[in-house]
Amino acid sequence: MSLQENESLAELSAEAHTLLGQHYQQEPSLLASAPGRVNLIGEHIDYCDGFVLPLAIDRHIVIAAALNDSATVRVRTMEEAEVIISLNDPQKPEDPAWANYLRGVLNGFRLRGNWPLPGFNAVIVSNVPVGGGLSSSAALELSFATLLEGFSGTKLDAREKALLCQQAEHDFAGVPCGIMDQFASAFGKEGHLVLIDCQSREPALVPFHTDELSILVANTMVRHDLATGEYRKRREDTEQALALLGKSSWRDVSLADLRNHEGRLPEVLQRRARHVVTESSRTREAAEELRTGNPAALGPLMAASHQSLRDDFEVSCAELDLMVQLASDIGPAGGLLGSRMTGGGFGGCTVSLCRSEQLPEIAACLAMGYERETGLAPQIFSTRPAGGARLL
Ligand code: GLA
Repeated sequence: MSLQENESLAELSAEAHTLLGQHYQQEPSLLASAPGRVNLIGEHIDYCDGFVLPLAIDRHIVIAAALNDSATVRVRTMEEAEVIISLNDPQKPEDPAWANYLRGVLNGFRLRGNWPLPGFNAVIVSNVPVGGGLSSSAALELSFATLLEGFSGTKLDAREKALLCQQAEHDFAGVPCGIMDQFASAFGKEGHLVLIDCQSREPALVPFHTDELSILVANTMVRHDLATGEYRKRREDTEQALALLGKSSWRDVSLADLRNHEGRLPEVLQRRARHVVTESSRTREAAEELRTGNPAALGPLMAASHQSLRDDFEVSCAELDLMVQLASDIGPAGGLLGSRMTGGGFGGCTVSLCRSEQLPEIAACLAMGYERETGLAPQIFSTRPAGGARLL
């Protein structure tokens, strides 16, 4: 069976409930959840005022917690040793690195004046693959921020909450990410994709109710080390290119502008710029095709997106290219409408749009082909657009 089954949110919550009892002998007074995300199209342009089209996936992080009558937060995950965070001192990044997402969010609450917070014990359970480019870190930030809303008796506006979490990632995890992951996890809605205008920071919901189509995620199971450093470099490349084009926002740059500057930008920056401009227009077009009931039109757009990420933006890798090639070999005749790498790149997952009735054959074919070439068994699952972060 190549298609992996998915633990439901209810099952995860029950697990978190039980674990809190086992570790801290307490019943949860709060349960908070937040989904991971997969991006259908619009890659590496959320930090360039572009349009992106992710969805919150039906895989979550759930935190169960109860007050502990102290000035400390004690947290356990299924795999890691307990982390103890003192609420008396200002937070700063330290080991273990995974808990910096929590420290960053605590810091955000302190800065906005929701302080002091009461101490609590918490356990974290998750079925969002870690390091797979499905935003397990955004899900951790958003679920924790939602828990803190509960404990502080404050409700943040979803946008403010997402931005607070993005800031936590910048300052405490050292990743200069855009807004896509946190916005998708905050604004996700069942049966909808989230079209985000990254200039105005306005999300708009695009219906995706159909049972006929499914979104398939294939995890290459590789993550190349250069991911974070190269991410920062790509961001810097786009900033440099924009300055050389003499513009203050990518929203004001057209393909004609790029042609007019041909030769005046270093060749690499010319390619980076071409990716930004073409990807943003592909994304708007994809959202329009979905709105007007023409999902088949997404195939060529997703293929062009992958090519652009591979050749112009250079964030793909051999394993992602292989998985996309296998998908393209299946093609529309085999029920596979389109496929591309998703997320930051250099490993992680591909996303494909498929006819639901052909999912089992598609998954088997991808798994077999990928394993034959790489010796690695990919993790493959279908996902539906889910709701955003919330208290359960
Ligand atoms: C990572 C970042 C996002 C976005 C994607 C690429 O997931 O966190 O902000 O830039 O890469 O689209």
